[in-house]
Amino acid sequence: MNYNDEMDFENRMVDPEYIEADAEVDNPLRPKTLEEYIGQAKVKENMAIYIEAARKRKEPLDHVLLYGPPGLGKTTLAGIIANEMGTNLRITSGPAIEKAGDLAALLASMNEGDILFIDEIHRLPRTVEEILYPAMEDFAIDIMTGKGQGTTSYHLPLPKFTLIGATTRAGQLSAPLRDRFGVVERLELYNVMDLAKIITRSSSILGINIDQDAALELASRSRGTPRIANRFLKRIRDFAEVISDGEITQATAQLALDRMEIDELGLDSGDRRVLKAIIEYYGGGPVGVETIASVVDEESVTIEDVVEPYLLQIGFLKKTPRGRCVTKAAYLHLGLTPPPEMNATVNVDQTTLI
Ligand code: ADE
Repeated sequence: MNYNDEMDFENRMVDPEYIEADAEVDNPLRPKTLEEYIGQAKVKENMAIYIEAARKRKEPLDHVLLYGPPGLGKTTLAGIIANEMGTNLRITSGPAIEKAGDLAALLASMNEGDILFIDEIHRLPRTVEEILYPAMEDFAIDIMTGKGQGTTSYHLPLPKFTLIGATTRAGQLSAPLRDRFGVVERLELYNVMDLAKIITRSSSILGINIDQDAALELASRSRGTPRIANRFLKRIRDFAEVISDGEITQATAQLALDRMEIDELGLDSGDRRVLKAIIEYYGGGPVGVETIASVVDEESVTIEDVVEPYLLQIGFLKKTPRGRCVTKAAYLHLGLTPPPEMNATVNVDQTTLI
């Protein structure tokens, strides 16, 4: 069987990466204060303290690194931090800053205390990253112009700013960059209860009626990711308006999600293909992520950042030193018979526990 035939990692409804279509529904839905922000309790509690302390000292907040899977609200959180600090927020991304001069111009145009948010900070070109070090540490940059004997260097003092960096892959940041962030916070996939609260909040902002069972149904199929939940909500509203007087019931939610081929756990055909590829080609694993990526014809970063976090969270995949393994639960979910050793392993574990 060729896994590329039905493979569609582009335009997935469950793609947690930000797409243009999210903007319209996303913006009014974005919470503006920490109090409105649902979930991520640890990050929220820590940030509330750092913000209050910085405000009391009348100093800019220390530089903040936010990391974790896409779609969990890193940009939203940067907006909230700026709002709570009462400062301006400038938003850019690693790949958008091509030259050191672009970053220098951006930093020089900021005011004291302003926040610069750099999304996908792990994709900053190396030459740009290098001028970020003194900018973060000493609030100054040295710019060289000209060539050979005509080289002149300018020392450019900068306003005291706060950098908020966001990345899906903290491990890919260079150590000197990572070390310059005073605050490092990891965002986790949301649990179903928190996602259901987000869905209920979004519905009320959008003027949609949704009952609790429908919110839970949608939450349990949104892969722990608010961006996906809000995107689904928009589509389910279309179904509800056409088939059930605009009210989202559990039945409407189920119907709409089934039509979108999102199963009860939020897996789409892409996820199922990855699991089936590991099972059918590699006997359930262990197999390296590069190998999986080549079998399903996808970049390994997409597998690692987009597909794996949720499969790991729901216990369908396990990371072992020798590679990824599919679990018994995944076999059962796909309607496949787990290999006999899996039953044996469970028994052995139980015996050991007793
Ligand atoms: N919308 C998207 N993410 C949210 C969050 N964490 N809390 C409230 N509303 C949201």
